[in-house]
Amino acid sequence: MHRIGIFYGSSTGNTQHVAKMIGAAWDGESVDVLNVRKADPALLTSFDLIILGTSTWDDGQLQDHWARFIRKLDAAHLEGKKVAIFGLGDQAGFPDQFVNAMAVLDEKARALGAEVLGAWPTEGYTFKKSKAVSNGKFVGLALDQDRQRNLTEERIQRWVAQLKETLGWA
Ligand SMILES: Cc1cc2nc3c(=O)[nH]c(=O)nc-3n(C[C@H](O)[C@H](O)[C@H](O)COP(=O)(O)O)c2cc1C
Repeated sequence: MHRIGIFYGSSTGNTQHVAKMIGAAWDGESVDVLNVRKADPALLTSFDLIILGTSTWDDGQLQDHWARFIRKLDAAHLEGKKVAIFGLGDQAGFPDQFVNAMAVLDEKARALGAEVLGAWPTEGYTFKKSKAVSNGKFVGLALDQDRQRNLTEERIQRWVAQLKETLGWA
């Protein structure tokens, strides 16, 4: 059994809800779902896979609690750790900065020497710009509870299956 830590920040509950859905998709593995508002960053290195989840607010910014927690990552020794990212946004309401905050987590994790897994295709979304697109893919799983809630479960199942394959845990 592998240990997976899902660290999320959520202002109105959407990312929290989705974090629990992602946790439930890893059957057979040990999963902790932790809110960054109160999570202990020292726990990060105890996981085989660290999943970081944030919504995007205010012109493409990180969710509020993440804005504080991200500074604590510097001391968390993420070098060599496997990290996957998911992000929530509203592609119709904010088409020029859709899920931008995923890019902030991606840049931070890479700068700290983590290996970021779980890039996700942009097909099926309608937006103009996103800083979270790199080499033609989202840097992690993009989810939209405002416009495409009905697609979330299926996207999560596919993303987790893809991660298991990448990790050799399938
Ligand atoms: C004031 C406001 C600003 C937002 N800014 C963005 C944005 O820049 N980009 C984006 O993709 N979504 C944006 N959103 C949409 C939220 O990210 C989305 O509703 C998300 O599901 C909220 O998740 P949470 O409840 O976990 O914080 C914004 C929503 C509000 C209300």
